[in-house]
Amino acid sequence: MSVAETELPTIKRPTAYEQWLTDEGLTVVEGLFIEDLRTVELGTWERRGCRAAVARLEGTEDVNDAHIIEIAPSGEMAPERHLYEEITYVVSGRGSTTVWNSAGTRTTFEWNAGSVFSVPLNAYAQHFNGSGSQPARFYTVTSAPLVMRMFHNRSFIYDCDFDFTDRFGSDKDDFSGAGTAYQSRVWESRFIPDAAGIELKSWAARGAGGSNVMLEIADNSLCGHVSEFPVGTYKKAHRHNAGAHVIILGGTGFSLLWREGEPVRKVDWRQGSIVVPPERWFHQHFNTGTTPARYLALRWGSKKYPLFKQFLIDRPTTEGGDQIEYQDEDPSVRATFEAELAEHGARSRMGEVYERAARLQDRAAGQSG
Ligand SMILES: [Fe+2]
Repeated sequence: MSVAETELPTIKRPTAYEQWLTDEGLTVVEGLFIEDLRTVELGTWERRGCRAAVARLEGTEDVNDAHIIEIAPSGEMAPERHLYEEITYVVSGRGSTTVWNSAGTRTTFEWNAGSVFSVPLNAYAQHFNGSGSQPARFYTVTSAPLVMRMFHNRSFIYDCDFDFTDRFGSDKDDFSGAGTAYQSRVWESRFIPDAAGIELKSWAARGAGGSNVMLEIADNSLCGHVSEFPVGTYKKAHRHNAGAHVIILGGTGFSLLWREGEPVRKVDWRQGSIVVPPERWFHQHFNTGTTPARYLALRWGSKKYPLFKQFLIDRPTTEGGDQIEYQDEDPSVRATFEAELAEHGARSRMGEVYERAARLQDRAAGQSG
């Protein structure tokens, strides 16, 4: 006898990650950006002994997320190990973290506002607020959404007793800030004392006097970079994978974001803002302030342990890449920048850059004509 379709159970259900958010009772922040992560309203995360919210922003597309965590003055979080990666940016406060594994490696390091560090994969960690009067706040980018959906078994994710000694062990327990420099502006470490103060190097291909350092952190596939661009300038538009959390460390400005052929979205930012450009959306950052604009991006895309498609983020779209050169951009981009500068009483320093772009455009027209 056949059963009517309506009598069959539905196979639809929340993803393992969505179920985890619900079961943990977590406050979730959605949208394209966060105006100021220092003032995001947090809920209680009882199991971990802190206040928290999860940033599940549009541009993360569940390939990663961010846990905004606040530890009370003199407070400590419950220890935990897990099979998802994490990189923490310390938004405010100061304190220490103890990291250990089953094999007996154990170390403690101190952090301050501006520090970036990673608890290595499946190492135990416990965080302590070192101030008796001020809370400490983290913005921790994690691969939890991916790992939860892949294994959909929380016992495995939280109770696995495997030590990744290739990531953390007696010869890999240095959180002093020491590291290794590589070609192409790469710095590898487990701990960056102050992202706002880290030394950068020129990266001419991304435009307008910008500088940068690429961060490889604690042998993760998650990684990061710090970039800065001068007063009165803007970077070239480009596009790449989902889940790049752009955290503004200093400066004032705005970003334009758009999917090819669709309306442009504008986001105003200042220190403490975060924007996550969605997968393949072009995005472009503009400095309208009186100081250089600097940001930290936490994202996938480790050069040592790549996981997803590598976009050609500094190669022109006219050459099969994913960056729009100044001479190829829509005229509305310049117009928007000029209007915003006027509103802020600032002036453009793009003159030389535009002249060079015009020369390139003339040369291209000559070649095709
Ligand atoms: Fe980008």
